[in-house]
Amino acid sequence: MAIERTLFIVKPDATTRNLVGKIIAHVEGEGFKLVEARYTRLTREQCNEFYAEHVGKGFFPELVDFMTSAPVMLCCLEREGAVAKLREVIGATDPAAAAEGTIRKLFAESKGRNSVHASDSVPSAEREVKLFFGVAALSH
Ligand code: RTP
Ligand code: MG
Repeated sequence: MAIERTLFIVKPDATTRNLVGKIIAHVEGEGFKLVEARYTRLTREQCNEFYAEHVGKGFFPELVDFMTSAPVMLCCLEREGAVAKLREVIGATDPAAAAEGTIRKLFAESKGRNSVHASDSVPSAEREVKLFFGVAALSH
C-alpha cells in the first residue's frame, strides 16, 4: 500500500471539551504521523471553500455556524493507505451509526457535532491538505 497524506480536523465540539490530546493520541495509536498541524479559528469564507460540495444544502448554514464557533485543530496526517484508514478510524458521520471504538462513537455528540473530519477520497485529501497547508505539504 502507498504512503498517503490526508487532512484531519478536530472540530469545535471536541476542542471546547478539551479532547484534542486524547483524539490526537488515538490517531497516533493507529499508526498515523503528524506532518503539519495548526490550532486556529476558521472563518466563514474558509468553510465555504473547504465544504464547497455542501454549499446550498439544508444543513450548510448550521455546519458553518458550528465550524466557526470555536477553534479547530487542523492536521495533515501520514500513513500507509492513510485516506481510507482514517475514514475507518473516525467512523460514520452520525455517531449513532458509528462502529464501536471509532472516534465518533467514542466522542461525538451528534451528527452535526461529530468531533472530527477526515478527507473522503485521495483527490479530496490532496485538495484539502493543499488548501490549509500549501502544496509543499503534499510531497513526502
Ligand atoms: P466531514 O466531511 O466533516 O468529515 O463529515 P462526513 O464526510 O462524514 O460527512 P459529510 O457528508 O461530508 O458532511 C459534512 C458534515 O456536515 C454535517 N452534516 N449534517 N444534518 C445532516 O443531515 C447533515 N449531513 C451532514 C455533519 O456534521 C458532517 O460531518
Ligand atoms: Mg465529508
